[in-house]
Amino acid sequence: MPRTAYVNGRYLPHAQASVHIEDRGYQFADGVYEVVYLHEGRLVDCDLHLDRLARSLGELRIAEPLGRPALLAIIGELRARNRLTTALIYIQVTRGVAPRDHAFPPAGTRPALVVTMRRMERFPLDAPAQLEGGRAGGPAIRTGVAITLADQRWARCDIKSIGLLPNVLAKQAAREQGATEAIMVDAQGMVTEGASTSVWMVDEAGVLRTRALSTSILPGCTRAALIDELAAAGIVCEQRPFALAELRRAREIFVTSATSFVKPILRLDGAAVGDGAVGPVARRLFDMLIGRMVEA
Ligand code: PDD
Repeated sequence: MPRTAYVNGRYLPHAQASVHIEDRGYQFADGVYEVVYLHEGRLVDCDLHLDRLARSLGELRIAEPLGRPALLAIIGELRARNRLTTALIYIQVTRGVAPRDHAFPPAGTRPALVVTMRRMERFPLDAPAQLEGGRAGGPAIRTGVAITLADQRWARCDIKSIGLLPNVLAKQAAREQGATEAIMVDAQGMVTEGASTSVWMVDEAGVLRTRALSTSILPGCTRAALIDELAAAGIVCEQRPFALAELRRAREIFVTSATSFVKPILRLDGAAVGDGAVGPVARRLFDMLIGRMVEA
């Protein structure tokens, strides 16, 4: 069945879905996006994602293209047309189409909205050959390998901008070195986040840590959901930055996002992390996240 995409008011076959050459997203990366995981018909942490979308738009002074019920209706229609229940939903809003000029286009220029869907694997993941750390009675956990590199991004990484060139270059560097994620480090030697994930670690003293929110990182929805779950379970998590040197001594490292869930990093810059296996804290958070998806 051909995939269907939503583009500025129309449902189109994916192959014919396109935007105008003067879309400001195309010319200036003047737009924002969200990625939401649809798990068996349920949008995971949808409110967190749509709140963040509204915040990103507000910070850039781009009008909301539609109200939330209308956006949810589009997602519902796309789900029906694509006949998907487990998928990744991509939402992009740009400042609209206007003759190229760096400053904002004339008042009244309508923001442009694109929504697409892509099939994703269902939990429990059904490709055990590609997975490690599976255990009886629990879903298998997908693991990763990371490199580290300098964070070359702008000063507003809290906005989910479609301007992702440093992230693209970082991810490509990772791929070329046989890794799955690039962990970025700021000029002070402190870890910021992954090219497309939030970074967590269990430090050498056994303390679970992730960097506090600021303009240096994206406020991850998965991060926020897990912090809530941890608080409810009475597990201490310190929101405190860590240096690359501390990361190298970590017992566990893992990254989180809407599409990588909780992904343990087993090797960092070629060296084993901890004992080189999936750690108990990552496993616990993974189970918490899956439990949250299944329950809600
Ligand atoms: N990336 N940090 C960055 C730089 C990200 O791009 C992402 C998400 C995250 C995690 O955020 P969340 O938990 O809300 O997914 C952190 C998405 C998945 C992407 O760009 O595809």
